[in-house]
Amino acid sequence: MSRPANDRLLRALAREPVDRTPVWFMRQAGRYLPEYRATRARAGSFLGLATNPELACEVTLQPLARYPLDAAILFSDILMIPKAMGVGLAFEEGEGPRIARPVRSARDIDALPVPDIGRELRFVTDAVTLIRRELAGRVPLIGFAGSPWTVATYMIEGGGSREFAQAKALLYGDPKALHALLAKLAHATTDYLNAQVVAGAQAVMIFDTWGGILATPAYYEFSLAYMEQVVADLIREHEGRRVPVILFTKGGGAWLERLSATGADALGIDWTMELSAARRDTLGRVALQGNLDPGVLFAPPAAIRAEVARVLENYGRGPGHVFNLGHGIQPGVDPENVAAMVAAVHELSPQYHR
Ligand code: CP3
Repeated sequence: MSRPANDRLLRALAREPVDRTPVWFMRQAGRYLPEYRATRARAGSFLGLATNPELACEVTLQPLARYPLDAAILFSDILMIPKAMGVGLAFEEGEGPRIARPVRSARDIDALPVPDIGRELRFVTDAVTLIRRELAGRVPLIGFAGSPWTVATYMIEGGGSREFAQAKALLYGDPKALHALLAKLAHATTDYLNAQVVAGAQAVMIFDTWGGILATPAYYEFSLAYMEQVVADLIREHEGRRVPVILFTKGGGAWLERLSATGADALGIDWTMELSAARRDTLGRVALQGNLDPGVLFAPPAAIRAEVARVLENYGRGPGHVFNLGHGIQPGVDPENVAAMVAAVHELSPQYHR
């Protein structure tokens, strides 16, 4: 398989020169798009959609039909691994994920099966194969997984959380049990990402949405260490091409130097930190992806353009920047405002690459 016709993303992740800054955004397929809501209604539910390769392929391609983006991201969810472990995953309309059988003790964790990813999550690798065929080399496809720690929080809490009371109780009360859970998740995550790469994912991203709620020593021990382990065991070259890895810890601004030493090719940066500071802290070791405040998309196009200009200017000259939001796009955003963001990146970024 050859390099995609548009290889700006892969070049930027390798810190090679590009003509303009590549752009894609987290949660680019999703509820802010009316065509997504229509496909989901046809599927009956979010899980019905995500477990059907044809429909998952259709929604993956929807944002690319609307906007001139430089990458596609597989339509799936970070909670497919717990689903494969049989914890009883469901998505309640308007409430987010629910796990019927949370894991809260050493005994629960011991009883968790090591999933056969190739079999249990065949619908994901089938979706990857289909998306690659439909993309026909136009832009690269990004695969993804959650970090072991972030996925563990959902398994322990039984869903989303504000305080993470159960997860913190386990972390401080029975760290050995938490390590056993994270080790199982790290193995499954490695298998899962490698299966996506073999099926055709050309870059992979690890979402550590809840790393930022940890104290620094706990972050190193329970989140970073396991991402590092996953990175070390990933397939880094497939069919003669490097498969870059992007790590994103939301709220991880204080830990970028350590993150840049994990072996990742790039780091996602949230909007609370400036890219210029991130560039300084990572010592030129990695590319940076981000970091427009997703809330900017609620403002009119002129304001969006000004904020895009600010992010580009703050990163500054030279390669190694992938334009993105600092976190996922929010459901109430007007699709026209997203078009304004993409157009601003196209127009304003070439001057930084001359
Ligand atoms: O970026 C993309 O377009 C690819 C698809 C994608 C989804 N989830 C689809 C989805 C990706 C990359 C994810 C990752 C994900 N899932 C994360 C990490 C990234 C982040 O946003 O922090 C997390 C924490 C989850 C877990 C999850 N899935 C939650 C908390 C929820 C409910 C809240 C919400 O945002 O809707 C989901 C459901 C989900 N995953 C939806 C989508 C499009 C919405 C479901 C619906 O259609 O109603």
